[in-house]
Amino acid sequence: MLVFGIESSCDETGLAFYDTERGLLAHALHSQIDMHRAYGGVVPELASRDHIRRILPLLQQILQQAAITPAQIDAIAFTQGPGLAGALLVGASVANGLGLAWDKPVLGIHHLEGHLLSPLLASTPPAFPFVALLVSGGHTQLMRVTDIGNYEMLGETLDDAAGEAFDKTAKLLGLDYPGGPAVSHLALSGTPGAVTLPRPMLHSKDLDFSFSGLKTAVLTHLKQSDQPLQEPAKADLAHGFVAAMVDVLTAKSIKAMKQTGLARLVVAGGVGANQQLRTALTAAAQQHAFEVYYPDLALCTDNGAMIALAGALRLQRWPEQARKQYAFTVRPR
Ligand code: KG4
Ligand code: ZN
Repeated sequence: MLVFGIESSCDETGLAFYDTERGLLAHALHSQIDMHRAYGGVVPELASRDHIRRILPLLQQILQQAAITPAQIDAIAFTQGPGLAGALLVGASVANGLGLAWDKPVLGIHHLEGHLLSPLLASTPPAFPFVALLVSGGHTQLMRVTDIGNYEMLGETLDDAAGEAFDKTAKLLGLDYPGGPAVSHLALSGTPGAVTLPRPMLHSKDLDFSFSGLKTAVLTHLKQSDQPLQEPAKADLAHGFVAAMVDVLTAKSIKAMKQTGLARLVVAGGVGANQQLRTALTAAAQQHAFEVYYPDLALCTDNGAMIALAGALRLQRWPEQARKQYAFTVRPR
């Protein structure tokens, strides 16, 4: 079964072809990061307009690149939510328009299910069941993933998401959007232990997180100095922030592995690209005798491949979920 996937929930236009026999055949991505950087974050109206501008040329490009004709496609999957309403509507419109034009069934996919299943695209994919640590710009969750469509929330953030905390900290430090890569890069030159920030909810019994206090601790630290921080001190602060974040994410992941008794941990979402987090989780996995799986770096952040994959796996199991009924809604929240 060959599924065409479309992702447009935020600031990446992603298209991909996934085949249940042959795997990922092609994926194409246009990132709007350069456009939003000038504003220090994603501007929803500009995001929608850029998706509109890019999506059909990107479709032409990927059809050519994959040498696939519409006749070979079995179904179309698109991100139905959560995300920016206007941005979601672009992908949903194109998916349903193509469905009507090509006479294909169409299926809406939950963006987080895409992230959750994205490690299955790796050359050595994890088997079910596993625990997933989903760390993106909008979400921080630990989930028990028993099978396709069988997900149980074990814990989540009570306030800011991990990626959001990275982005807000970057802003405080005067770094570019998106903050994750910028803060992590700066942290590499910081001195370990020079700045120690609080680890919110590290010892709470549940599997929930809270990161807004960590961001406030960065702000408080900055306010202690009447001069703007210079490079070495900034790097120390960035190091302190990343260390606190990684400590909490790692400790809660270990707790989730113990609590569920499962043997595999899967990391997904944009913050899953973070090298410091990967190093800590790999060490924790060795120490506590579980296996840890990461998506390819390029498939951690938003992409069409994970949506095509989620669509294909759903349709393999539940063919009736794709419908030739082209009235659609999106679910921003
Ligand atoms: O999954 P994603 O692309 O979009 C959402 O669904 O939110 O995640 C984007 C988030 C941003 O907050 C970004 O700063 C963060 O992931 N991110 C990182 C890294 N790369 C992206 N955070 C930490 N380290 C990174 N290397
Ligand atoms: Zn995402």
